[in-house]
Amino acid sequence: MIDDLWYKNGVFYCLSIGTYMDANGDGIGDFKGLLRRLDYLHGLGVTAIWLMPFQPSPGKDDGYDISDYYGVDPRYGTLGDFVEFTHGCQQRGIRVIVDLVVNHTSDAHPWFRDARSSPDSQHRDWYVWADKKPASASKGMVFPGVQKSTWTHDKEAKAWFFHRFYDFQPDLNTSNPYVQAEILKIMGFWIQLGVSGFRMDAVPFVISTKGAKVRTPVEQYDMLRSLREFLQWRQGNAIILAEANVLPETDMEYFGKDGDRMHMMFNFHVNQNLFYAMASADSRPLAKALKATKPRPASAQWGLFLRNHDELDLGRLSKAQRAVVFKNFGPDKNMQLYDRGIRRRLAPMLGGDRRRLELAYSLMCTLPGTPVIRYGDEIGMGDNLDLPERNCARTPMQWSTEPHAGFTESDKPCSPVIDEGPYGYEHINVAKQRRDPNSMLNWTERIIRMRKEVPEIGWGDFRVIATRDPAILAIRYDWRNNSVLFVHNLDEKPREASFSVGLAGDEGKHLINLLSEDHSEANDRGKHALMLEAYGYRWYRVGGLDYLLKRTDIDGVNANHPE
Ligand code: NOJ
Ligand code: CA
Repeated sequence: MIDDLWYKNGVFYCLSIGTYMDANGDGIGDFKGLLRRLDYLHGLGVTAIWLMPFQPSPGKDDGYDISDYYGVDPRYGTLGDFVEFTHGCQQRGIRVIVDLVVNHTSDAHPWFRDARSSPDSQHRDWYVWADKKPASASKGMVFPGVQKSTWTHDKEAKAWFFHRFYDFQPDLNTSNPYVQAEILKIMGFWIQLGVSGFRMDAVPFVISTKGAKVRTPVEQYDMLRSLREFLQWRQGNAIILAEANVLPETDMEYFGKDGDRMHMMFNFHVNQNLFYAMASADSRPLAKALKATKPRPASAQWGLFLRNHDELDLGRLSKAQRAVVFKNFGPDKNMQLYDRGIRRRLAPMLGGDRRRLELAYSLMCTLPGTPVIRYGDEIGMGDNLDLPERNCARTPMQWSTEPHAGFTESDKPCSPVIDEGPYGYEHINVAKQRRDPNSMLNWTERIIRMRKEVPEIGWGDFRVIATRDPAILAIRYDWRNNSVLFVHNLDEKPREASFSVGLAGDEGKHLINLLSEDHSEANDRGKHALMLEAYGYRWYRVGGLDYLLKRTDIDGVNANHPE
């Protein structure tokens, strides 16, 4: 495998333009403002930005309700500004992927307006209709507790329409060939404007069969191949990163047995088990999740994340496991959402404990995949539980101690900045942390740099190393005649870890610490004994620092001969 598939070994950063610079229509901020923030992201070292929806939208679901796929919301600027932005990224070697939200449109989209106007309208069949209320109307809601139904009656259309999400987000009839052609056209458009791919929203629902008569929706996986085929023809190195919270046994359906479907998927399975591991200090279910999600084509990659802009969805854990995570990270009802998740930001979930934050980040950076950082987590931003639903973790970026955290000069920012308590902008902001060598921001910057120096994680084969202590997770990666090893202590108490690296010969004897001077030598029986402090983590190179000289040009010729 040629090792220039850029997404296999990068550091992604997710942001929404509206929370980076205030899009309040005063002409300051928007894409022009974002362009000015690029040097910050360049300094942080991220290799790709995932830009959340910025197209014209009534904004009832933070832009995931699009009313024009070929434009920029005027609050954020113009298409001209957008191209200046992608160009600015390119200049700095940063790639951009944008959201592709095509499971549904906004009900304000001209297609839906036309569709509802008459049964004979050109766009009628672009949506999913029923004459009578379907029996399944009270099933399959994505936002239980908030969303009442998946079918809503439309007076103008004199019919019911299907919406997997909120009632202002009518589902597109994605089986309609005209809709399919339009989706390709949307991709082609943004590719032409300088993006390197898409974060595809709600993929299982996009490819699902939809309709009043559909009892059990079936995924039409072939659609994924058509999307990829088109993209690869238009731009060979563009990718799709799929949002698909699915069970491990269907992973290969999404990646494609021959690697001919999605390039990347978010690893929701590992995400949930990772939070369970941190809450319980038991690494075993996480190790199991890593093994379950191991099979994937060589060209495919996982997106590894801690928190995103939605709730932390714990729906796939057992009831008992979920209860443990709730108890530790979101005990109040107000912190929980949709009967399955936690809506807080990472830092408050971990009690603002720097040791736990570093542990969490160290895990995200060293588990198999490409890390995806949520904006603001690099400075340990907090949340505002007074804001409804998921909005509590979508507050503006805290840039400085200036009014409104330097987010806007206006008196009325479109979204309130956190201005009180320990996470208020006067305490937590970029400018302050930039000046402090020991800040979270500077730690994150260093860990990103180190992550980029360890391509073994993105490219290599991994195995979980037995330590006999459930609180310890040890993983080794092998790639092109080199190995690296990562050890994490999930417990609040110090732990002694004893293990053998599992490589034949003398190779596993020396472990060179990449983050401190604390190296390790194996004893006579080839075992390492480490004393890990509470929440401690270690990044080691196996052998010496001659790894660049030892690295082979092709895979599968490890002189180490893993057992
Ligand atoms: C998933 C997105 O992450 C979420 O924010 C959104 O509400 C739904 N898809 C609907 O587009
Ligand atoms: Ca503004």
